Amino acid sequence: MIVGVVKESYPGERRVALVPAVVPALGDGGVEVVLEAGAGEEAGFPDAEYAAKGASILSARAEVFQKADVICQVRTLGANPDAGKADLQLLRRGQTLIGFADPLIAAGPVKEMADAGLTLLAMELMPRITRAQSMDALSSQATIQGYKAVLVAADILPRMFPMMMTAAGTLAPTRMFIIGAGVAGLQAIATARRLGAVVDAFDIRPVVKEQVESLGAKFLVVDLQMQGAQDASGYAKAMDEATNLKQQELMTLAVADSDVVITTAAVPGRKSPVLVTGEMVAGMAPGSVIVDLAAERGGNCQLTRADETVVEHGVTIVGPTNLPATVPYHASQMYAKNISTFLLHLTSEGKLKLDMEDEITQQTLITKSGEVVHRRVRELVGLDEPVAAAETPETSEASAS
Ligand code: NAI
Repeated sequence: MIVGVVKESYPGERRVALVPAVVPALGDGGVEVVLEAGAGEEAGFPDAEYAAKGASILSARAEVFQKADVICQVRTLGANPDAGKADLQLLRRGQTLIGFADPLIAAGPVKEMADAGLTLLAMELMPRITRAQSMDALSSQATIQGYKAVLVAADILPRMFPMMMTAAGTLAPTRMFIIGAGVAGLQAIATARRLGAVVDAFDIRPVVKEQVESLGAKFLVVDLQMQGAQDASGYAKAMDEATNLKQQELMTLAVADSDVVITTAAVPGRKSPVLVTGEMVAGMAPGSVIVDLAAERGGNCQLTRADETVVEHGVTIVGPTNLPATVPYHASQMYAKNISTFLLHLTSEGKLKLDMEDEITQQTLITKSGEVVHRRVRELVGLDEPVAAAETPETSEASAS
């Protein structure tokens, strides 16, 4: 089986789907790698390193599409809706694509890929089960997001993070409030603590309290009715409007007391809840910073504009939508580990074998040979009637680790 890796075409995307280190393991599994020349360069992986590990380098992008049975990308068409269109002409019926595809949002591209006769596996829908942890690219990239968000805040903030007692006086530590303590939020806490900030955090899933505390942050207890805030796979459910308003009210003080607020509250496939209103921003001290990691889905702060810097009431609000691309070496290394493990999981004797009894295949397979096969995505693209939540089968091995 031949796997092709091409240069990512999404604007500003510097990651690459496979790095040289994973090529030998793929080779052992009967998978040969062909690479578009320069595909790994921006991430810090020159062609010569791929070649030294046994990959073939091809000068033309079209040649990679022509030779490969499977194409591995960071962003397939669904997650690269404008520039990604050009690849549709290069893909051929029966070919398989693996990568981020935004399948719960990008209904149009999913249909287009099905119509083009492609088999698509979306990395976003990797089940949160122990067996799939090493294939979970949302988690690996969220780790990078959380880390980098703190550095972005530190760079903008007119203060230092740690408390310092110097001959020139005592400096108070930066106070940080993190909303949403999932993978990105927990990594943000760890990074901020390493830099010396005093951190408070909040999540609607009360189970994360212990994790927050183990990292040296304080879990903000707010009096919300939060039973049932988590679904079977460990993700947060959307809260109703009244709960959102109550949450805003209860967090107002914590936001006003913070020099930095990092928000990460996402609900898969939905618009992000607004948790920090314009009024709450006005209550913050001038010079404070908000980093909104939910900007791609509208943002957790009412004033966020995706990929722009907004200054209101003296507070700087940034909503970067592709932070992993700013740490392309490690982001690619982690993504390559995820996608190559997944690829080997799907491969038997050097051939792609999609086992529909396997939970990992079932949950990630979006289109197969020209048809949209994923139940939730079929509903979203209007091919099936929505199934009531109560009838939805639950993940058998859900974990909240
Ligand atoms: P995410 O990126 O979907 O959301 C980020 C965080 O925001 C979540 O912790 C969520 O509870 C929180 N959130 C949503 N709405 C909120 C609101 N209104 N107010 C405050 N917080 C809100 O989630 P992520 O980070 O991808 O993962 C969620 C959880 O899934 C993890 O913390 C973990 O428990 C579980 N998980 C399990 C894995 C496994 O077992 N293999 C792998 C990765 C995650």
